[in-house]
Amino acid sequence: MRKTAKLVATAASIVTLLGSLTLAPISVSYAGAVEDGKKLAFNKKKGNCLACHAIKGGKLAGNLGPPLVGIAKRFDKSKLRVQIWDASAKNPNTTMPPFGKNKILSDKEIDKIVEYVLTL
Ligand code: HEC
Repeated sequence: MRKTAKLVATAASIVTLLGSLTLAPISVSYAGAVEDGKKLAFNKKKGNCLACHAIKGGKLAGNLGPPLVGIAKRFDKSKLRVQIWDASAKNPNTTMPPFGKNKILSDKEIDKIVEYVLTL
């Protein structure tokens, strides 16, 4: 390849790369987010959501909170995020831990759990 042809090819691939970067949606909805969210929700050292909620596929669930079913019918992404980030925002007397506010889970972990819970 001649030097100029090489430069043109490099420039073209940089443009393609930049194009795909700017078109990428700003969200965690990557393939695998739901699966990662499920792992975090079931993990006793992370979400431990099963301690209080029956969830499809989860064992030995508690019943302090309602079973997590049909969530997408009643919650949109931001409402669900608030519920998990700080449940006391909606119900000051809740026993659900404020996972975001108290830094029990990171923002990224909460985003993944949101993706997962919306599939329930
Ligand atoms: C210590 C118990 C406890 C834990 C742990 C817990 N929750 Fe909850 N959750 C509750 C209670 C109680 C409610 C009932 C509403 C309220 O008090 O906010 C609730 C409500 C909810 C709701 C609303 C359900 C509905 O049908 O309105 C969602 C969604 C939810 N929790 C998700 C989660 C997720 C996801 C986790 C894990 C990251 C989790 N919860 C962990 C106790 C808990």
